[in-house]
Amino acid sequence: MSNTKTPEAKLSSVMEENRLFPPSAEFSAKARVNAATLESLRAAAAEDTVGFWAGLAKQHISWQTPFTIALDERDAPNYRWFTDGRTNASVNCLDRHLGASGDKPAIRFEGETGDVRIWTYTQLHAEVCKLANGLKSLGIAKGDRVVIYMPHTPEAVIAMQACARIGAIHSVVFGGFSASSLRDRIEDAGATVLITADGGKRGGHIVELKKAADEALSGGCKTIEHVIVFKRTGQAIAWNEQLDLDWTTLLAQQSERCEPEWVEAEHPLFLLYTSGSTGKPKGIQHSTGGYLVNAAVSCQWVFDLQASDVFWCTADIGWITGHSYVTYGPLANAATILIYEGAPTVPDAGRFWKIIQDHQVTIFYTAPTAIRALMRLGDEWPEAYDLSSLRLLGSVGEPINPEAWMWYHRVIGKEKLPIVDTWWQTETGAIMMSPIPGATPTKPGSCTQPLPGIFVDVVDESGTPVEGNNVGGYLVITKPWPSMLRTIWNDNERYIKTYWEQFGNKVYVAGDSTHRDNDGYYWILGRTDDVLNVSGHRLGTMEVESALVSHPRVAEAAVVGRPHEVKGEAVFAFVTCKGRRPEGEEAAALVKELREHVAKQIGAIAKPDDIRLVDNLPKTRSGKIMRRLLRSIAKGEEITQDISTLENPAIVAQLQGKE
Ligand code: WT7
Repeated sequence: MSNTKTPEAKLSSVMEENRLFPPSAEFSAKARVNAATLESLRAAAAEDTVGFWAGLAKQHISWQTPFTIALDERDAPNYRWFTDGRTNASVNCLDRHLGASGDKPAIRFEGETGDVRIWTYTQLHAEVCKLANGLKSLGIAKGDRVVIYMPHTPEAVIAMQACARIGAIHSVVFGGFSASSLRDRIEDAGATVLITADGGKRGGHIVELKKAADEALSGGCKTIEHVIVFKRTGQAIAWNEQLDLDWTTLLAQQSERCEPEWVEAEHPLFLLYTSGSTGKPKGIQHSTGGYLVNAAVSCQWVFDLQASDVFWCTADIGWITGHSYVTYGPLANAATILIYEGAPTVPDAGRFWKIIQDHQVTIFYTAPTAIRALMRLGDEWPEAYDLSSLRLLGSVGEPINPEAWMWYHRVIGKEKLPIVDTWWQTETGAIMMSPIPGATPTKPGSCTQPLPGIFVDVVDESGTPVEGNNVGGYLVITKPWPSMLRTIWNDNERYIKTYWEQFGNKVYVAGDSTHRDNDGYYWILGRTDDVLNVSGHRLGTMEVESALVSHPRVAEAAVVGRPHEVKGEAVFAFVTCKGRRPEGEEAAALVKELREHVAKQIGAIAKPDDIRLVDNLPKTRSGKIMRRLLRSIAKGEEITQDISTLENPAIVAQLQGKE
């Protein structure tokens, strides 16, 4: 695994971890899945995997036309599930709960300044229908693409559900992305409508969404016909009479009933752009039927979701976690979700814990980066609040280090709550590996084992399965599953190349390296491609490099990750300049300018933590940048690797910042 970021080093740290936490008898007794149920689910899945999923699809999803075909493999690896069935995601998330759960809160919302709003299923359904009708009145129909660039408020969920209701394909762009990232995504999807807001409220600031949207549109996006603007902040914004429509005005004219568009199971529910090994993010295309099956079922297995739960997944709707575990999974289960728009430390470090107390949150699902950040602020913050409503904790997005896991367990979980460390990806649509809280003994730092119906393996460089336990290699998924991505929008070739070709189109290549320990538990060690994981967010090194070289002063750039205590990984850039290399204050000013430039090009999450200006990048005689060397340097390691193939060995000291 030449590309892997020193799995050996990570491995030695996780392998010292041998604590085991069995599920509590009290939890298991009431759990949806206990050890015996898990065993029978696994047995059924092993015996007839496709039949197993078909059974769950019938049990968990309402179909307008039942399917007779469970899996169509004719165009593998373009798999299709439940092909002749018809359904609608918004009916599954809303209509079918109106009878018994109509008055139940679907969403409890809290803004950063403390504003609280509650939406029952009946109210949410009405708003979704009004917006769906509004979209229809603009001529939006099945298959049209709608880009959603919204703050993390209930209206974002309403926008997604309204698209689903009429069969329009949504593509949510995280509100932290820049105008230029938004433009690229709108153009790649060929979207005709943009749904946005005047602004969002986060970290005591206003996130200027409309301004960014205007900027994106001014430079292109010729396909956009309408921009629907939700007024969240009430601030003054530019208004384009040709394009802009006020959300409230549009909805005021609409009926609270909207016949759903019944779509075939394979109809794309959404696109979600994510970073890969090239400079261009890929539009991951998900289906309707198959996606909903895994999203819904995993909520029951992994989160033990019950009718009385208040489920808080802290992810923004701009990420897949916000799709599957804010919007679709919990609503398909008639759960109450909590949405908080603001930052975790406003007005102080107790905010998350206060929200849990005030809203009686029972399930809390967040990212290791947040856990580490909150951990550093001191135990007195969580200890000042009553967290006794909590019954389950979850983690997602990146490997959780045992120290953070133990803090979560001890200080938040009071040593009795189960912790589910869930491994999955934008592409997998739903959780693939995780403990089952009432059944699986957990180990801090391991996502334990695949869910029933999911089959993973470890393979070597040649794609050969590595037999037995206590082994490592590439993580692959060996059988198709309903919520798998269907393709990359407009680029099926890239879909095949990225996920399948490496090992003969037989297994799905996750892009992670993994270790399987002596108990058959999986430990995710990190990416095997040029993708970084910064605060649980995926970033392509090439994306950051292209952003850097688009600056007039930059000649070449090489970007690598380095370990970061809170973010997991941080962006480290080595840059050569056009003309003379600046020094001293001039260098400091340029570094500052380049960081801002990257934020402007991609978004603040991509800002490099370190930028080192150098005369040359380390290259082999054939001109390849030696990224492995740069990774060691970024980590501050002694250089022990062979640099004899380096074209210009004298550069090493400068790369290390020594001259
Ligand atoms: C990559 C996917 C899907 C959730 C949000 C991130 C890493 C995700 C874990 C975990 C170790 C994890 C992997 C994966 N990752 N969850 N529990 N333990 N690593 O989605 O942006 O598509 O990134 O995140 O490297 O490949 P994403």
